Amino acid sequence: AGPCDIYSSGGTPCIAAHSTTRALYSSYSSALYQVQRGSDSTTKDISPLSAGGVANAAAQDTFCANTTCVITIIYDQSGKGNHLTQAPPGGFQGPESDGYDNLAGAIGAPVTLNGQKAYGVFVSPGTGYRNNVATGTATGDAAEGMYAVLDGTHYNDGCCFDYGNAETSSTDTGNGHMEAIYFGDNTAWGYGTGSGPWFMADLENGLFSGSSSTLNSADPSISYRFFTTALKGGANKWALRGGNAASGSLSTYYSGVRPTASGYNPMSKEGAIILGIGGDNSVSAQGTFYEGVMTSGYPSDATENSVQANIVAAKYATTSLTSGTALTVGNSISLRATTTGYTTRYIAHTGSTVNTQVVTSSSTTALKQQASWTVRTGLGNSACFSFESVDTPGSYIRHSGFALLVNASDGTKLFNEDATFCPQSGLSGTGSSLRSWSYPTRWFRHYENVLYIASNGGVHTFDSATSFNADVSWVISTGFA
Ligand code: AHR
Ligand code: AHR
Repeated sequence: AGPCDIYSSGGTPCIAAHSTTRALYSSYSSALYQVQRGSDSTTKDISPLSAGGVANAAAQDTFCANTTCVITIIYDQSGKGNHLTQAPPGGFQGPESDGYDNLAGAIGAPVTLNGQKAYGVFVSPGTGYRNNVATGTATGDAAEGMYAVLDGTHYNDGCCFDYGNAETSSTDTGNGHMEAIYFGDNTAWGYGTGSGPWFMADLENGLFSGSSSTLNSADPSISYRFFTTALKGGANKWALRGGNAASGSLSTYYSGVRPTASGYNPMSKEGAIILGIGGDNSVSAQGTFYEGVMTSGYPSDATENSVQANIVAAKYATTSLTSGTALTVGNSISLRATTTGYTTRYIAHTGSTVNTQVVTSSSTTALKQQASWTVRTGLGNSACFSFESVDTPGSYIRHSGFALLVNASDGTKLFNEDATFCPQSGLSGTGSSLRSWSYPTRWFRHYENVLYIASNGGVHTFDSATSFNADVSWVISTGFA
């Protein structure tokens, strides 16, 4: 059985079921999600390998070979047609030119389920999905349940990495107009014990970890790599339950009455569905979503416990975040451009600006050092890499405002993540391409001899699709110094 078969048996059927990693009904064999590639903008549906099975990641890899791909649709498996697509502008605008949010890169969150490769939805700040015309979702004070499997190590304090029920207008229409899973370390509203991140409920104008609007000490900080979140709400009752998605059972972090603050009892749920954003299209949060559902009715703890057992049996596990030429931590490397007309240029820096410069064996020692980088374990994710300046130890290549800079590490989580890159086989078929860990649609790219993290055909001048594959492909060799 799949999670939605279990919810059906419990009398609280799924009315939305979203996953890029697997079928959530034992009989489901239709499309899980759709990807669109950068080379020709065509799309492809990705289905399970077999009914009830894991997604056919190999079909995505073949379709996306030597180009970029984004996730355009996360299909609803429930039959209600509650698909998730690119979120429109609302109270806040997304980063795309028309105010829409970004789409997720298709390869930012690789995992295995029972040893079979699949991809999750890696939400960077700016990324969001939504359905404002969902059917069958809870409205008003009606009861609903939901769960989501998330990456418990990918979060920030922005508002708001959510999955669940929100406003149909994409604007903040008041307290109690949302009921969604939230994950992160935002402390503007409620919070739990320790320094976070926490699983809370986004009920609009408030993230709640219990009945108080601030601290609820029974809500724990989370460090599970794979994290099951289960939220449910009905007439003057709601509950937050969570646990390690890779083993064991759920714990109840809160179960009780609605918050005492005004506007949350009764609730005024509107029934849209969001992923990765707040109810008003707040877009500054990050996180990773693997699977989740919403139900009609208030699921029993026993039903949720069976769903957790099903998730554990799916055996989520990590897999490599890199491909192509292997890098060795501690080595000094050079990175040479491969675009025709630029092939004598190497990634170097002038002060904090990262650029390309012509470097040869007869260049000055200073220039050779400017064009040499020490490979370090990724500061923000140890499965990827960081690049320390040879002539300025303690300074690393990091992105800021999507430009690459050489900055001294300030030790913050943001710096570490900005300075983490995951090498892949070169998109052009030559060399290596360096993908930003925190923005998987973005790659080291030279544009007018200056370095950016660029997306293929995005809104910035440096995102130009012209010559993209060549501009993001680099030959990595031993450093000059
Ligand atoms: O409740 C927290 C956030 O507040 C909501 O997600 C958003 O709509 C509002 O800004
Ligand atoms: O480069 C994109 C973002 O810009 C970085 O994550 C952040 O440091 C800056 O706001």
